[in-house]
Amino acid sequence: MSEASQTGFFISFEGSEGCGKSTQIRHLIESLRDAGHEPLLVREPGGTPIGEHIRHLLQHSPDNGAMTPEAELLLFAASRAQLVREKILPALAAARIVISDRFLDSTTVYQGVARKIPAATVESINRFAAGSRRPDVTFLLDLDCTEGFARLRERAHPDDKRDRMEEEPLAFYEAVRHGYLAAAQAHPDRIRVLDAAKPQAEIARAIRAELQKRSHVLFQGIRL
Ligand SMILES: Nc1ncnc2c1ncn2[C@@H]1O[C@H](COP(=O)(O)OP(=O)(O)OP(=O)(O)O)[C@@H](O)[C@H]1O
Ligand SMILES: [Mg+2]
Repeated sequence: MSEASQTGFFISFEGSEGCGKSTQIRHLIESLRDAGHEPLLVREPGGTPIGEHIRHLLQHSPDNGAMTPEAELLLFAASRAQLVREKILPALAAARIVISDRFLDSTTVYQGVARKIPAATVESINRFAAGSRRPDVTFLLDLDCTEGFARLRERAHPDDKRDRMEEEPLAFYEAVRHGYLAAAQAHPDRIRVLDAAKPQAEIARAIRAELQKRSHVLFQGIRL
């Protein structure tokens, strides 16, 4: 079966640390389950046994302070290559709804814009790793960086270890935020920007409304 003829519906969530991706995914999964769907949730990096090893290497390995941007890009791509083929494409072929906590745009933004690897290089590695299938819709939760950090501090337990990305200076997150907004401008049909400073319930409603609007043409209709 060609990738284009797959019948499922693919949703990704993007945005910088603490913007509320996991929170909104939890709300959406609950709504989908209440409506009788069984969505597949995956996360990046990770989502497969191989990918979870790569996630550890990227985030918490004691040696990862020495990681070069190039190695970082390739590790994210390796994790994604495994995830797409092992989990995402089979689930879409089985007409399931797939929700990914981060996907391709994270690489474009973090390794491309923020780590300054040339866009054409990132684009070509993305294409090799992920193939041609893109999310049917991407929700970008846009939030002021200092607010995102404040939320993370509130969320954190005292013994939590910050991951490597969370050690970056604020300017890195400003670049990430602007990189995401530029990606949304480049892909206005796919990426829907949401104001992540709004109350959780309001954002969740906007997400459900957007899915109802889009899914009846792309999928056999998401009931919500
Ligand atoms: N709309 C909101 N308003 C205020 N607080 C929120 C909102 N959404 C989420 N939060 C809170 O912000 C914190 C971070 O949310 P969450 O873990 O969902 O972010 P995330 O984008 O998944 O972060 P990460 O990139 O680290 O995984 C949590 O404590 C959550 O309860
Ligand atoms: Mg999260």
